[in-house]
Amino acid sequence: MKTDFLVIGTGIAGLTYALKVAQACPDKSVVILTKTHSDETNTKYAQGGIAGVMNVNEDSFSKHIEDTLIAGDGLCNSTIVDVVVKEGVERIEEIISWGAQFDKQPDGDFKLGKEGGHSESRILHHKDVTGREMERALLEAIKKCNNIHLVSHCFVLDIITQHHIGYLVTKSTPDTECYGVYVLNLHTNKIEKIISRITLLATGGNGQIYRTTTNPSIATGDGVAMVYRAKGRIENMEFIQFHPTALYESSVKGHSFLITEAVRGEGAVLCNQDGVGFMEKYDSRKDLAPRDIVARAIDNEMKINGTEFVYLDCRHLNLEKFKEHFPNIYEKCLSVGIDVHKDLIPVAPAAHYSCGGVKTDEWGQTSIKHLFASGECASTGLHGANRLASNSLLEAMVFSHRSFLASVREIDNTPSKNNIPDWDAAGTTAPKEMILITQSVKELKLLMTDYVGIVRNNERLQRASRRLDLLHQETEALYQKTEVSPQLCELRNMITTAYLIVKSAELRKESRGLHFNTDYPKRDIILQNTIL
Ligand code: FAD
Ligand code: SIN
Repeated sequence: MKTDFLVIGTGIAGLTYALKVAQACPDKSVVILTKTHSDETNTKYAQGGIAGVMNVNEDSFSKHIEDTLIAGDGLCNSTIVDVVVKEGVERIEEIISWGAQFDKQPDGDFKLGKEGGHSESRILHHKDVTGREMERALLEAIKKCNNIHLVSHCFVLDIITQHHIGYLVTKSTPDTECYGVYVLNLHTNKIEKIISRITLLATGGNGQIYRTTTNPSIATGDGVAMVYRAKGRIENMEFIQFHPTALYESSVKGHSFLITEAVRGEGAVLCNQDGVGFMEKYDSRKDLAPRDIVARAIDNEMKINGTEFVYLDCRHLNLEKFKEHFPNIYEKCLSVGIDVHKDLIPVAPAAHYSCGGVKTDEWGQTSIKHLFASGECASTGLHGANRLASNSLLEAMVFSHRSFLASVREIDNTPSKNNIPDWDAAGTTAPKEMILITQSVKELKLLMTDYVGIVRNNERLQRASRRLDLLHQETEALYQKTEVSPQLCELRNMITTAYLIVKSAELRKESRGLHFNTDYPKRDIILQNTIL
C-alpha cells in the first residue's frame, strides 16, 4: 500500500491530525492505522477533561502557564508551555465546531472543573466521560472524509528507514528518514509494508508495563520502542505519572477504573479508614496539590499503615450534583457495592501517563525526517518532570495541528520511496506455547511496580536493570525464531520502554517531579534533560 500521509493511532492525536491533513489536501490520501478497534485508546477513557483558559474574567494565560511550569518542577520548555496554553483555546473551539460537546451552565457559559495544581477552575468536560465524547466527535468527522482510509486491527511492527535498504543507521546518522512502516495485518495474519511520504506517530502511552494502571491494554509503549529501534531521539522517560486515585479492587482484569481528580476538585477528601484526612500533613494545597505530591503522600500512608489503599470521602458532597457531574463513577461504584453518599471509596495510585517519549521540536518533528509525533508518545517539552492535570488532551490537539502545518509545507517536496524490501521472516516458525510470553509480561509488570514505582532508590533500579537484561535476552532469542504476533511484539516493546525508563532514572542523580529517588532526595542544581 502507498499513501501520502500515514497516521499511526486513532486517539485524539492521530484523529486530529488525520482530519486536518485530509481536509487541507483533498487530492491526497490519508491512511490511519490502529492495532485494535478504532475507539480503543487512552483518549476514550479520559474523564476529568481538557484544560483551557475560557473564563477570561477570572483566569488568564499567565495563570495557566504558571501552573504548568510549577507542576513541571523546572523542566518544562517555557516556549512550548506558552504555545500550548495560548493556541489551545483555538483548538478547543475547533473540536467544538467538529461536534464535541462540553457541559454548560444554564447561562451558556462552560461549566469549568478544577483539578490538582490548577489555581483556577479551567477544565472543560463532558460529565465524567470527556474523552469518549471527543473520540466520538472525531471518529464521526473522519467518516465524512472520502480521502481517509481507516484500517483497524493492523499492528505496526517497525518504522522503515535507510536501515531496511542496506545502509548502516546509528544515533549519529544525520539524516535518518522514515519511508513508512511494516505492519502485521490481523485480518489476514500477513506482514505488509505501507509506504508513506509523511508519517505521524500517535501511539499513546505505556501504562501497561506496570501491574496497576488506568491505561487500557493498547498502552504498551510501541511507538517509543519503534523510534528507539530506528535510532531516533527519546527523552524524559523516567517521569511516569501515577494517578493518585484509581478505584482499588482486589482483583482487576485489564486496567483500573479511574476516580477523576475533578471529584477532589468538587471537595472530596483523601483519608484513612477512620475518615481522617491526611493531605494537610504533606502540602498546603492539600488534596489539590500536584499529582506527584498526592501520589507520594498516599504511597507513604499505605506504607505506614501496611494497607493496599486509602480512602476518598465524598459523603459530604451534594449527591444530586455528584450524579450529574460524575454519572459514570457513581454507577461504577454502585456496581461494586459502594454508595458514594454513604461509603468511603477505596483508592490507590496507578500508572497513568508517560511524560517523556519521542523528542520533537515545536512543530512535532522528530529526529527522524518525515516522521512527526504527537500525543502521549511524544515529548514536546510541555510537561517537564510532571504533567499538569488535563493538559494532555490539549497538548495532543495543539501538536497535531502544528504537525499538520509542517507536514503540508513539506509534502510536495517529499517523494515516496521505491524498492523497499518485503519483511524478512526467514527462519521463524509458529510459536509453540504462549506461556513464555505471558509469564514474561507478568514478570515485567512486577519488577517495574516493585522497583521502578513512585519511590525509587539506586539498589532497586540496579535490580530492575539486571532483571530486564535477562528478559531482554530471552525475548530477543524468542523473537529471532518465532513468527511475529501482537503479544510477542508488545512484550518486546514493553521491555524496551521499561529499559528506557530505568536507564533514564539511573542517569538522573536527583529527585525531581515524578522521579523520586531516596538516595538523592533533593533536586540538583543542574536541570539537564536526559536524552537517550
Ligand atoms: P491514545 O488515545 O492512547 O491512542 C493510541 C492509538 O495508537 C490507539 O489507536 C492504538 O491502537 C494505537 N497504537 C498503539 N500502538 C500501535 C501499534 N503498534 N500499531 C498500530 N496502532 C497502535 N488527559 C487529559 O488531558 N484529561 C483527562 O481528563 C484525562 N483523563 C485520563 C483518564 C484515563 C483513565 C487515562 C488512561 C488517561 C487520561 N488522560 C487525560 C490522558 C489522555 O487521555 C491521554 O494522554 C491521551 O488521550 C493520549 O492520546 P493519544 O492520541 O496520544 O493516544
Ligand atoms: C483525571 O480526570 O483525573 C485525569 C486527568 C488527567 O489525567 O489529566
